[in-house]
Amino acid sequence: MALATRTILVALGAALGAAAQGCRETKVAVLGAGLSGVEAAKSLSNAGVSDFLILEYNSDIGGRVAHTTFGEDADGNPYTVELGANWVQGLGTPGGPQNPIWTLAQRYNLSNTYSNYSSIQTFSSTGANDFTALLDDFEDAYAYVEQDAGYILTEGLQDRSFRSGLSLSGWKPMRDMAAQAVEWWEFDWEYAFPPEQSSQEFAIVNYNTTFYQFSDENNYVWDQRGFNTFIKGEAYTYLKPNDTRLLLNTVVTNITYNDTGVRIDNADGSCVTAEYAICTFSLGVLQNDDVTFCPALPTWKQKGIATFSMGTYTKIFLQFPPDQVFWDKSYQFLLYADPYTRGYYPVWQSLDTEGFLPGSGILFVTVVDNESYRVEAQTDDETLAEVLGVLRSMYPNTTIPEPTAFYYPRWSQEPWARGSYSNWPPGTTLEMHQNLRANVGRLWFAGEHTSAEYFGFLQAAYTEGQIVGQSVAACVKGACTPEVDYPNMRGSTSPAEYTPANGWIVSSFLTYGFD
Ligand SMILES: Cc1cc2nc3c(=O)[nH]c(=O)nc-3n(C[C@H](O)[C@H](O)[C@H](O)COP(=O)(O)OP(=O)(O)OC[C@H]3O[C@@H](n4cnc5c(N)ncnc54)[C@H](O)[C@@H]3O)c2cc1C
Ligand SMILES: *[C@@H]1O[C@H](CO)[C@@H](O)[C@H](O)[C@H]1NC(C)=O
Ligand SMILES: *[C@@H]1O[C@H](CO)[C@@H](O)[C@H](O)[C@H]1NC(C)=O
Ligand SMILES: *[C@@H]1O[C@H](CO)[C@@H](O)[C@H](O)[C@H]1NC(C)=O
Ligand SMILES: *[C@@H]1O[C@H](CO)[C@@H](O)[C@H](O)[C@H]1NC(C)=O
Ligand SMILES: *[C@@H]1O[C@H](CO)[C@@H](O)[C@H](O)[C@H]1NC(C)=O
Ligand SMILES: *[C@@H]1O[C@H](CO)[C@@H](O)[C@H](O)[C@H]1NC(C)=O
Ligand SMILES: *[C@@H]1O[C@H](CO)[C@@H](O)[C@H](O)[C@H]1NC(C)=O
Ligand SMILES: *[C@@H]1O[C@H](CO)[C@@H](O)[C@H](O)[C@H]1NC(C)=O
Repeated sequence: MALATRTILVALGAALGAAAQGCRETKVAVLGAGLSGVEAAKSLSNAGVSDFLILEYNSDIGGRVAHTTFGEDADGNPYTVELGANWVQGLGTPGGPQNPIWTLAQRYNLSNTYSNYSSIQTFSSTGANDFTALLDDFEDAYAYVEQDAGYILTEGLQDRSFRSGLSLSGWKPMRDMAAQAVEWWEFDWEYAFPPEQSSQEFAIVNYNTTFYQFSDENNYVWDQRGFNTFIKGEAYTYLKPNDTRLLLNTVVTNITYNDTGVRIDNADGSCVTAEYAICTFSLGVLQNDDVTFCPALPTWKQKGIATFSMGTYTKIFLQFPPDQVFWDKSYQFLLYADPYTRGYYPVWQSLDTEGFLPGSGILFVTVVDNESYRVEAQTDDETLAEVLGVLRSMYPNTTIPEPTAFYYPRWSQEPWARGSYSNWPPGTTLEMHQNLRANVGRLWFAGEHTSAEYFGFLQAAYTEGQIVGQSVAACVKGACTPEVDYPNMRGSTSPAEYTPANGWIVSSFLTYGFD
């Protein structure tokens, strides 16, 4: 009896405590402190809306712009390497538009070097093997594909896969593994998916809007403060040191919304109520149900989330004794054509090269998509054995030394990322993407994946964060303009066209499973 009473009192006390504690109140809850969230809050602040809270899973700002310390230099000081975003992609021309990320990289003095894609040595399983002539063949095919994509867009034609565009151009790598490696380097290395899983129209839109609008240069950031220095710099243009509006180490678990507000519940039991929320969680996080929406998101929104793809891009870092470097340091890139498996440890980058981290002994190799999932599910030792096996094929008459450091991130398994960046599958539409992008009442969405043009790139997260921040600031001030959404997406074939003339010979259309 005594025990039971005490149990009840304790339970009652806990319940009252929780109720009395209440939720922290704010006008706008910004969910995520990656580039999109930081820019959204900056727009709010610029518009005079200072009553916001930023909730972030990790212990630091930056999201998918993340670095780690790796290996060490001759004095025993660790190097910094980027695990996520690494390049400013598309810079700008004098007098032309400049990539806002390039503007910021310069403002925060980020150390960076031009990536020279012509500085490449090619290998097969029997060592160095010059197949660089295939690069020109691919680029000729690409010129056809980009023009064809222009017709798809301007004539309103059906989108197809990038693979179909390449095939029509005459580029058919088939079992030529050197051609497969070249294709991987030119396509998969950027989109994190093979051509058959990518939209022809929107892969080209993505390329054109960055590399033709700004410039075709990619600059690799090797700043030892970390690439996210520029995101922190942006955040502290409006946050004060130790600003209580930034809630780090805060894992959002539930987002409950209605016509008058949004409630955010966190894993630590804390909660926030807001008039509006801006959710900047990645497409992977949205797809994996890591966060519960209550009520469930409307069907048009769920379709938008389910339609697009989240890619994974895995950089695997090795440090060798600097005096035992066995590769030719004059090349920035090494391209390996595996004899059996497309995408098997294909692109290698030397950081022990002039303009990067000379003397570091650091080399890294990148895999994407299905090979990322395989590698990310392996132990470090299993992956290291494979990687050293490939290096032995590339340098058959060389003793490959044991690396002194080895590390790779597992992006597909991070509960706050669930992959690296988004991509458009073949055959989707701008309207379907708008469903991924649009607000659901007081709940707004921003991030790399909500950009129809720059998707994947930092400039996507930057522009979308700013746009949504401005829209929500207008809402707070009573001049809200909701974003458009498309609940009824129609295909191009009408029911009347299901006829024998179109090869529809079983007259099942009206009699089976369709009323
Ligand atoms: C391996 C890799 C390589 C890349 N390379 C490049 C490149 O070279 N150039 C380039 O331009 N772009 C590159 N990108 C893409 C670039 O990093 C992204 O476009 C950009 O950082 C996305 O910013 P975001 O704000 O949309 O999302 P994020 O950075 O993911 O921000 C979302 C934030 O939400 C937080 N969050 C998630 N879930 C929760 C939760 N439940 N509770 C609280 N917080 C949560 C996350 O921790 C994160 O901080 C790369 C990305 C990766 C991963
Ligand atoms: C960048 O470098 C310039 C010139 O050295 C200096 O004036 C400026 O303060 C630096 N800016 C930052 C943000 O470090
Ligand atoms: C890029 O590398 C190629 C091959 O090494 C070289 O000929 C060219 O001059 C380099 N370009 C630049 C801009 O450094
Ligand atoms: C490796 O050594 C063998 C035997 O000397 C030689 O035939 C071969 O060409 C060498 N391979 C490379 C890639 O140097
Ligand atoms: C991309 O740019 C090329 C070259 O300017 C152009 O021919 C093509 O139409 C563009 N395609 C799209 C989809 O913008
Ligand atoms: C901010 O917090 C850190 C520790 O978290 C402390 O060292 C620092 O003095 C604080 N700065 C200010 C301005 O309060
Ligand atoms: C959060 O969502 C989970 C899963 O739907 C549910 O079990 C839980 O009750 C929710 N919590 C809150 C505080 O809404
Ligand atoms: C709407 O949500 C807010 C914030 O969670 C809550 O305070 C309010 O009671 C809800 N209103 C209705 C009608 O459910
Ligand atoms: C990944 O796909 C390629 C074809 O693009 C295939 O050759 C390879 O075996 C696949 N890898 C895995 C792990 O399935």
